Amino acid sequence: MLILSIESTCDETCAALVEDGRIVHVNVTYSQIAEHNKTGGVVPEVAARRHAEAITQVLEEALKQYGEKIGVLKNVKGNENDGNEEIGKESMKKIMEGIDAIAVAQGPGLLGCLMVGNNAASALSLMWEKPLIPVHHIEGHLYASWLREKDDERAGGDGDGDGDDGGDGDDGGDGDNREVEFPMLILTVSGGHNQLFLMEGHGKYKLLGETLDDAAGEAFDKVARMLGLGYPGGPEIQRIAANGNEANGFKPGDPFKYELPRAMMKNEHADEFNFSFSGLKTAMRTLILNLKVKGSNEFDQALPDVAASFEYTVCDTLLKKLRKAAELHGPKEIHIAGGVSANLRLRKMLEHTFASKGPKSDKGKPREIEIHYPALKFCTDNAAMLGSVAYFRYIADPEKYSTWENSVPNVGLKFH
Ligand code: KG4
Ligand code: ZN
Repeated sequence: MLILSIESTCDETCAALVEDGRIVHVNVTYSQIAEHNKTGGVVPEVAARRHAEAITQVLEEALKQYGEKIGVLKNVKGNENDGNEEIGKESMKKIMEGIDAIAVAQGPGLLGCLMVGNNAASALSLMWEKPLIPVHHIEGHLYASWLREKDDERAGGDGDGDGDDGGDGDDGGDGDNREVEFPMLILTVSGGHNQLFLMEGHGKYKLLGETLDDAAGEAFDKVARMLGLGYPGGPEIQRIAANGNEANGFKPGDPFKYELPRAMMKNEHADEFNFSFSGLKTAMRTLILNLKVKGSNEFDQALPDVAASFEYTVCDTLLKKLRKAAELHGPKEIHIAGGVSANLRLRKMLEHTFASKGPKSDKGKPREIEIHYPALKFCTDNAAMLGSVAYFRYIADPEKYSTWENSVPNVGLKFH
């Protein structure tokens, strides 16, 4: 079953074609990051306008790439007129005939942004008489780690999520062919969400805990702003923590230099899986202020250590909770998802946290708990992840999705 999916919840306009919930044929992402970098964050009205401007081109690009792959369109790639070339009526008909359903992120997200994607999806569903499958954006993130690309040689990668699967070298996701095993624990760490789920089957979630204030990604973004770094903050903090800066001779930051507070970790919270990052944010503000008082040279020198200590503290807090939850619930697999799951320190520490359980690479012994994270391109917002959820939702209840009218944008959509 081939699904055309659309994502427009926040600052990325995306379209993808995914087969049977796992195989990504096409994945097109138009990112507005450069635009929002200027303002240090997403301005909803600006984001909505950019989606409106980009949606047709993004959809066209996805359909073109697919048309080319199946031989309906020839020589589109590399053709100088590529950008201006329209898909002819007959070709479009052939391409659309191969698509079984349309999926879209119904929410949560910014209203103006959601409207663009949902209107486009409804129009396509009506026009081409395809089922329309509305999907929860975060549920999409949960499915990102079992996507693999159609042309990816790595199919059958070693599945240990250690990033040595080969392939194009840009990811480290596991994307193999195996079936997923339930129950699994999934930690979502994105800009807007920070939740820990026990997933017992497709569509069956138990929310174990969530952030009481800022999500991990939001904390990265806000602290990066305090540090004078760009948006989005996560990659910026990772970069300066890992590579240092000129002022410190490009030495990596020391993650243990500053002891920072970890909330919700005391005994009385031992069996709770909620998170809180606002105290850490306040501690960062004070630390930064104190360093700035000492002078800009001092501050610049300290920056990599500050970034590394903050990054380490966030990762350590998340993983201690995850480990506790794993001890309590005995999952077969652990997945991390969402933008922050791209963080390399988090991935390394995750491997380390569960290494004692016997990694697969260790003399071929199976891991007791499999660890998985998405390929880098599927960590941040994308449409392919939505195509995956949509497939599993659809095959469980096809009747439910027969009308084009069933995706009304929902800013605060819940799914658990
Ligand atoms: O999942 P996502 O793309 O959008 C939401 O649904 O929120 O997540 C975006 C978040 C941003 O806060 C960004 O700073 C963070 O993910 N992020 C990272 C990294 N890459 C993106 N945080 C830490 N390290 C990274 N490498
Ligand atoms: Zn997201």
